[in-house]
Amino acid sequence: MNFRSDNEAPVNQHILEAIIQANQGFEESYGYDRYSEQFTQQCQQLFQAWCEVLPLTTGTAANSIAMALSCPPYGAILCHEDAHLNRDECGAPEFYTAGAKIVPLPGEHGKIDIKALQTFLANSGVHGEHESMPATISLTQCTESGTVYSLEELKAIKAIKEQYGLALHMDGARFANALCTLQCSPAEATWQAGIDLLSFGATKNGAMMAEALIVFNTKFNKQIKRLRKRAGHLISKMRYVSAQLVRYVENDLWLELAHHANSQAILFSKQTAELVELLHPVEANEVFCRLPIELIESLQKQGFEFHIWPGYKDVIRLVFSHATQQSDTEKLIKAVSQHQA
Ligand SMILES: Cc1ncc(COP(=O)(O)O)c(C=O)c1O
Repeated sequence: MNFRSDNEAPVNQHILEAIIQANQGFEESYGYDRYSEQFTQQCQQLFQAWCEVLPLTTGTAANSIAMALSCPPYGAILCHEDAHLNRDECGAPEFYTAGAKIVPLPGEHGKIDIKALQTFLANSGVHGEHESMPATISLTQCTESGTVYSLEELKAIKAIKEQYGLALHMDGARFANALCTLQCSPAEATWQAGIDLLSFGATKNGAMMAEALIVFNTKFNKQIKRLRKRAGHLISKMRYVSAQLVRYVENDLWLELAHHANSQAILFSKQTAELVELLHPVEANEVFCRLPIELIESLQKQGFEFHIWPGYKDVIRLVFSHATQQSDTEKLIKAVSQHQA
């Protein structure tokens, strides 16, 4: 019973079938196939806007190319201290920007603290050419703490981005999960909220190594294809990635899958509300909770798999996915309830 990561979940059957269907005969390579073209059109309809779309195989590539497009080598990228881009990409954003500086900012529940962002920007520039020039704000939606920026919070960040003339990037590795929570249109959650570049995740929510970088602002799509090639991410048989993405958004499959994942996390948190201490509000498909160490050990012995959060002995992260069986969620609820009774 795996609650460790949505990366460990299997590929959704419809998406797997889409790969098989795409495996008919010959098809143009390097993104000139019919599926890549179709996915771009789908994105333009979905987001009700012009956008440039690059299918990719990893979120790190999407984030790093987004940074290379929006931040010069002498620039600074402002993000939450826990951002994947800051903690978990082994310097790839710095590498692809040829040395931009990442500025990690604090904030509760994985969200950039607006005051900290304002203070940083208000004080920047005093050292002139000696300091890196703020160029890009990157926020993660859902955050690394499983929370979701509200449209109001996004609005506040948009105002700051406009005041300082910065680019705004969204790491949407779990964008579908966030959209289900926000219950708004993809347009409202992105470019209408000031997002210039979106790392659009699909892998965690049912695809097999399929992500995309979506650029809404023409200012940031210059030499985008060369950057992708240079990053080693121009996939020759792109049809197999794009066919997945086509199926992913078709008939709202992506939202259906994310809705299921979120509903499992919410079911768990509601049913155990009196029993477990939550570290962050449960707003999507992840639950961070503090439990007695004996309970953690007992759950592990019963076959429940999850991460004990680095730096803690008594905090675990539970990730619910598109493939989580409700019966497994119920077994987990029962195991927690029986131990605490
Ligand atoms: C918030 C976030 N961004 C991006 C990624 C993309 O990572 P990868 O390069 O492994 O696809 C992840 C994966 O765990 C993530 O959690």
